[in-house]
Amino acid sequence: MAIKYELLKECPDTKARAGLLHTPHGTIETPIFMPVGTLATVKTMDPRDLKELNAQIILSNTYHLYLRPGHEIVKQAGGLHDFMNWDRPILTDSGGFQVFSLGDLRKIKEEGVTFRSHIDGSKHFFSPEKVMEIENALGADIIMAFDECIPYPATYEYAKNSLERTTRWAKRCKDAHKNTDNQALFGIIQGGMYEDLRTQSAEDILSLDFPGIAVGGLSVGEPKDEMYRILEHTVPMIPQSKPRYLMGVGSADALLEGVNRGIDMFDCVLPTRIARNGTAMTATGRLVVRNAKYAKDFTPIEEGCKCYVCRNYTRAYLRHLIKCNEILGFKLITYHNLYYLLRLMRDMRLAILEGNFLHFYKSAIDKIKL
Ligand code: GUN
Ligand code: ZN
Repeated sequence: MAIKYELLKECPDTKARAGLLHTPHGTIETPIFMPVGTLATVKTMDPRDLKELNAQIILSNTYHLYLRPGHEIVKQAGGLHDFMNWDRPILTDSGGFQVFSLGDLRKIKEEGVTFRSHIDGSKHFFSPEKVMEIENALGADIIMAFDECIPYPATYEYAKNSLERTTRWAKRCKDAHKNTDNQALFGIIQGGMYEDLRTQSAEDILSLDFPGIAVGGLSVGEPKDEMYRILEHTVPMIPQSKPRYLMGVGSADALLEGVNRGIDMFDCVLPTRIARNGTAMTATGRLVVRNAKYAKDFTPIEEGCKCYVCRNYTRAYLRHLIKCNEILGFKLITYHNLYYLLRLMRDMRLAILEGNFLHFYKSAIDKIKL
């Protein structure tokens, strides 16, 4: 078995829990946020930065690495860890999200999905077996089953047919996965916004006994209350002994709400993407650094933040860099945003361990909504 989840403490007031996830490249303290390194790089951050930030695990993408540079090249380099010089845990997503976001560029059949590359329009085919071949070649500690993340809104009939196919694909992934000693394959629950379909998907996916379980198909444009309703329905069905991963969620309020509902792992491009657009995340909400009102503001992004950026740079300087499209501006705001989210996760974990998560959650949520 490639991974082992160790539950350390449950919150007496909520579903929040703190644990350890042991992987071949080290132990992760959960709940955790995973920065996204789509193309084998967390944009603008090198592994020294990521270690300074105490990033414990990063996510990368099957679809992108298959297209460029190609999984065979990554394999020849000794796998993704060696290729990108990151010796801590890595999770690869399966392409079940990217391929389905291609819209008209793809065609779904029982056997798999035919799609055109967003780069050069070339034609490709992903089946559960092909995706396992790619993820085995990349060599991440945790790999995701090939699923369909359906759009929002979706009809009941579409959601049902899709989740049933996702279950059949999950079974095929399990059969095709070749490296069970070193890579843990996680199953993904789908079912759209329909509670009975989420139940059906959870029962089917859980029956395949994956070492970890993801909740997919959320944060796809639905109101946040809908996402929380589906989480409240779905998470309690997952056995206590398995790590629970909410895919594609990374706003501070949703991390607090997700942990409150029993989620252990999150990933999202949000902190790194909005940084490159000149937006910082803070305990009181987002700060648009590129805004003209910060031109002569010589205070840090966030008063009291102990990150390298807030200790050394002002809003005025960062705004100047962003306005001039200077790479350093993107890098510094990315650094602060990741610091902020990783610290939020660590603070939640400490609060759970100390038995005061509910209090922490309430005061943090109130501040963000200011
Ligand atoms: N990323 C965000 N949502 C999803 C999902 O439903 N499936 C996969 N594979 N990746 C995701
Ligand atoms: Zn900071």
